[in-house]
Amino acid sequence: MSVSPLVSPAGSPQVAAPTQADLLDFVRRTAADAELIASLPLDPEGRTWVRLEGPGGSEAWLIGWPPGSGTGWHDHADSVGAFLTASGELKENSLAARLPTDGWKTLELTDGVDRERRLPAGQGRAFGRHHVHEVLNESTERHAISVHAYYPPLPRIRRYSRTGQILHLEQVERPEDWQ
Ligand SMILES: [Fe+2]
Repeated sequence: MSVSPLVSPAGSPQVAAPTQADLLDFVRRTAADAELIASLPLDPEGRTWVRLEGPGGSEAWLIGWPPGSGTGWHDHADSVGAFLTASGELKENSLAARLPTDGWKTLELTDGVDRERRLPAGQGRAFGRHHVHEVLNESTERHAISVHAYYPPLPRIRRYSRTGQILHLEQVERPEDWQ
């Protein structure tokens, strides 16, 4: 009696997870699609969203930002991501510090960890896991529109409040909270 050797299932080739560079490339190409950007409904009061198909199973969004709107401080837990301004201008405040991932509620930030970048149309950035930031449209008159991509698709968003150098974890949102 012969025994067949174990063979790995013949299947589709393994698709590599998208890298930060892949996500940045995607948001740059998407932001250049003038027809898509113009299709996003804009609201004078609140942000607007359209879900997009990101590369390699990533989660992507087109977001409209009315003047004066912002996200508040948050991170995307274990996801990496990229975003890029398609029209108008966004500002990103971020922390150049790697925070402990879990098990804390209040953290005192050391001086010098704050970073600011202005992202006019065509400018964006990629970021790694646990990147803490807030994104704002500081214009008093113009909407901004941006394209975002995250991989893995957002498992969690941690939201923080901040007073001076004190960062406080307010809540952890999971996809089921967004329904
Ligand atoms: Fe974010």
